[in-house]
Amino acid sequence: MSKPKEVRDYIRSIPDFPHEGIIFRDVTTLFSDPRGLRMAVDQLLQPYAGLRVDKVVGLEARGFILGGAVAHQLSVGFVPIRKKGKLPGAVISERYTLEYGEAEVELHDDAITAGERVLLVDDLLATGGTAEAGIKLVERLGGEIAGCAFVVDLPELGGRKRLEELGMDVHALCA
Ligand code: PRP
Ligand code: ADE
Repeated sequence: MSKPKEVRDYIRSIPDFPHEGIIFRDVTTLFSDPRGLRMAVDQLLQPYAGLRVDKVVGLEARGFILGGAVAHQLSVGFVPIRKKGKLPGAVISERYTLEYGEAEVELHDDAITAGERVLLVDDLLATGGTAEAGIKLVERLGGEIAGCAFVVDLPELGGRKRLEELGMDVHALCA
């Protein structure tokens, strides 16, 4: 009998995207498979199921798909952290560096209430720059990070260490 598929088996690696030398972990093949998507969402929220989580924050863009599903399963609200210039209301911003470039992310300044426990969700942890920017935004509004959940962790890029040094609980489904 063949081995049951795991989350990692649904993700494909595409070399030299978006730049030469980057091996891009493509989760669209995970999202498009009904068993893969359910497995990923169930495993992402599993460590937090018995804990207090008031909101899920998802990082643009693939964190929206996962974060929305996780929020639905936990019966809590979903809040997007978007790239600069996309949110219509008053925002707070954080700049950060990526594995391949620089960016700025924003959060509506009324999206989190002080004291709320927030689960941060994204598809992938690389350098941790995006997640750290997200954590800073949530904390600037007085939110407390309950955990940071990712489908893929690329430990050689240092993101897990970086977030753990900030005192974060980091949960990833595969490397
Ligand atoms: C990817 C990924 C994470 C981030 C991780 O998003 O979805 O959000 O990079 O990298 P880091 O740990 O080095 O910060 P990307 O910036 O490619 O944006 P996109 O999802 O909008 O394409
Ligand atoms: N974001 C940063 N590095 C990435 C990678 N290697 N694959 C997919 N998304 C990424």
